[in-house]
Amino acid sequence: MMSRNKLDRFLWPTLIVVLIAVAQGAAVVELSRGPEPLGQIADFELIDQFETPRKSSDFRGKVWIAGVTYSCCTMSCPHQRAVLQQLQEQLKGTNILLVTISAAPGFDSPEALRKLAESLNADPKRWLFLTTRDSQGLELIRRFVQQSFHSDIVENPEAEPGQRFSHPSRLYLIDRNGLVRGSYACVEELYDDKGAPSGLFQINSDEVQRLRADAERLYAGALGRWFKLKWFPAINAGLNALSGLLLLTGWVLIRWNKRQAHAICMLSAVGLSALFLISYLYYHYFHGATPFSGTGWIRPVYFALLLSHTILAAVVVPLVIMTLYRAWKAQYERHRRMARITLPMWLYVSVTGVLVYLFLYQWFPGD
Ligand code: HEM
Repeated sequence: MMSRNKLDRFLWPTLIVVLIAVAQGAAVVELSRGPEPLGQIADFELIDQFETPRKSSDFRGKVWIAGVTYSCCTMSCPHQRAVLQQLQEQLKGTNILLVTISAAPGFDSPEALRKLAESLNADPKRWLFLTTRDSQGLELIRRFVQQSFHSDIVENPEAEPGQRFSHPSRLYLIDRNGLVRGSYACVEELYDDKGAPSGLFQINSDEVQRLRADAERLYAGALGRWFKLKWFPAINAGLNALSGLLLLTGWVLIRWNKRQAHAICMLSAVGLSALFLISYLYYHYFHGATPFSGTGWIRPVYFALLLSHTILAAVVVPLVIMTLYRAWKAQYERHRRMARITLPMWLYVSVTGVLVYLFLYQWFPGD
């Protein structure tokens, strides 16, 4: 029979590892908050280059980078579009959106913006060009720019079209809650010898890098630098599968009466499950929910699996704690009785966790 002292040697280190993991998870989330917000984005109702209505609330839950620009501008806009093209390339694999808002909706019909988007090789899923057909469109967008970015759009009717609208040349980073997290002078105006604005612009690469780093941190958190967010589902499924294997091994070992090896396997399964929980919460905090894209009869099958997995995952936690407690108190008979419920339930949760991953990311991957 395994002595209490021996068990303490395994139990306490496991509890300490679990507590440290929880504390580190909290610290990572804290570090991932990103720059302090500058204010809330104002409400808008616009249309994109495909005439799809887009309102501010559609962007909730997404990290996005916004710029104010118009298609025939010959001043800062060509540079700003070059920056956004660069960011589109660098931010591939994330679902950070790029959004350009027209400073001159009178010039920028959806058709004009569609042509512009095509000429820039803009990915329609990741780069939106917003405008409006409202007769008061310029005023609407002006108010939005004033309230959201504390800047302005000023029309000079005398000027030729390419220079008619002065507007912010900065890019803005907006978080999942619609808070403006930063303003970046990625395109800056050059000054002449007398210190007057020259009307010429250049790209400031340091600011582009700062924007990219802040956007990636908002999107993927502090761990995003080392682990890409898209790896997490596979890592989590791996942790689930591994803890399932440990549970099976632990069960075989106790059937062979190898008590110490059984305890090590079961405590390792607890450690891996705690790691899984932290990793799962981290992923969902930053990425949000992933919709299931399967259609037809497979949908009810998937949701039944997901529901049973979620309910049992919550139910099994107190059972695991109780089972461990009984082993710790050397109440082995009571431990065995409870463990015969805990073990199959926990195995079901591990196996269905892997199945949910396969359904969502391998068998029916979304966009
Ligand atoms: C939550 C984690 C654990 C689970 C799920 C678990 C599971 C099980 C199961 C299913 C059995 C019964 C096997 C059978 O008779 O078919 C069992 C027995 C046993 N477990 Fe665990 N176990 C866990 C943790 C531990 C720990 C940490 C120890 C440390 C000493 C331990 C010690 C034992 C012993 C001594 C028995 C044999 C009891 C007897 O023969 O009456 N278990 N365990």
